[in-house]
Amino acid sequence: MIVKPNEFQRRRRQLLNMMEVGDIAILPAAGVRMRNRDVEHRYRPDSDFFYLTGFPEPEAVAVFIPGRKHGEYILFCRERDPRMETWNGPRAGQDGACDIYGADDSFPIDDIDEILPGLMENTRRVFHSMGYNPEFDTHVINWVNALRDKARSGVHAPGEFVALDHLLHEMRLFKSAAEIRTMKQAAKISVNAHQRAMRACRPGMMEYELEAELLYAFTLGGSVAPAYNSIVGAGANGCILHYVDNRAEMQDGDLVLIDAGCELECYASDITRTFPVNGRFSKSQRALYELVLAAQEAAIEQVQPGKHWNDPHEAAVRVITEGLVELGILKGRLPTLIKNEAYKPYYMHRTGHWIGMDVHDVGDYKLGDEWRLLEKGMVMTVEPGLYIPAGTKGVAKKWWDIGIRIEDDVHVTKDGYDVLTGALQKTPDDIEALMTK
Ligand code: GLY
Ligand code: MN
Ligand code: MN
Repeated sequence: MIVKPNEFQRRRRQLLNMMEVGDIAILPAAGVRMRNRDVEHRYRPDSDFFYLTGFPEPEAVAVFIPGRKHGEYILFCRERDPRMETWNGPRAGQDGACDIYGADDSFPIDDIDEILPGLMENTRRVFHSMGYNPEFDTHVINWVNALRDKARSGVHAPGEFVALDHLLHEMRLFKSAAEIRTMKQAAKISVNAHQRAMRACRPGMMEYELEAELLYAFTLGGSVAPAYNSIVGAGANGCILHYVDNRAEMQDGDLVLIDAGCELECYASDITRTFPVNGRFSKSQRALYELVLAAQEAAIEQVQPGKHWNDPHEAAVRVITEGLVELGILKGRLPTLIKNEAYKPYYMHRTGHWIGMDVHDVGDYKLGDEWRLLEKGMVMTVEPGLYIPAGTKGVAKKWWDIGIRIEDDVHVTKDGYDVLTGALQKTPDDIEALMTK
């Protein structure tokens, strides 16, 4: 584990410092989700819950009460149960919650309805992330109502709700050194996986054969799951932005777009590369590829403290629009084309997103009405693309069925940026060289 117990403790302290005596924060673990009938999805903790607790089990609720005499951090979790542990593995239990995970106090989750209203008694504000888990929201409301019912005996129920997610997401936006180390390790595994797929690729193979190479490398690297469903789209499929079918045969002369990244210790990586199925770019593929690459490089140059969130996107849009004019795909004056978003039919998504514990990570992009400034510790993707499906009106046939995206994960440093996924080949020459090896 790269993020150590004292870092979880530091995060809890930071949250408690933002609260006042008279406040209570309540945060549930994710539930186990069913895939079909009695088959469960592999358990993945809720990112906010795990960020504060490092506690990996389901059926748990973390409670924070600043100034509480018997401890400010209370963890409700499952009791030890030797019979169940024989089937499903060890549980921390109440002792483990305190000794291993740093809780000040711990109670069985089955007792929460009896204990939690007592902990809420006479608090004024409840910090809770409303709306993500309707079933849990109902519990919170029931606990508050249990106190309202006791008003005649002089008990005060809390009267105010505060959005806990907003506080936590602002914290999560700024990555610590340990988080960056974890993300670098995730990036390294994903880089290796993409290289494996590039080396393996041959005309006549199926898209899922490349997906298998990716998953093999992720797993071998120590990742338990991809951070999102892998996209392996050849030819026309490269123009479908969320293509995850991955069932088609890859043809000689086509490009294949792979958007795939592993998750490591609850941290995501997110990489896209596009390369020729046969290992050699055609002239038109290379021309469009060079354009997306130039846009990506221009965008990455904008990832610096003091630039604002939209600067990389604006840089990418400018380069892509200019390039589309040079290639004869767009006609007109550059400022007008940009203003009218003439590039949008071919480049319809934004240039990036925050990345961290979630692939599309939390954190505001605007503060008030203004794009927020980039600051040290933020991590974002930079991922411009161009997509020209067959039949695109007004575009010459030589550009059809070319879908290209190039995506890297970029860390904002003290005085610039660090491309966490920078070890992966991305110039046409470097890609061709790797594929002939
Ligand atoms: N793979 C998801 C994304 O690039 O945003
Ligand atoms: Mn992305
Ligand atoms: Mn991606």
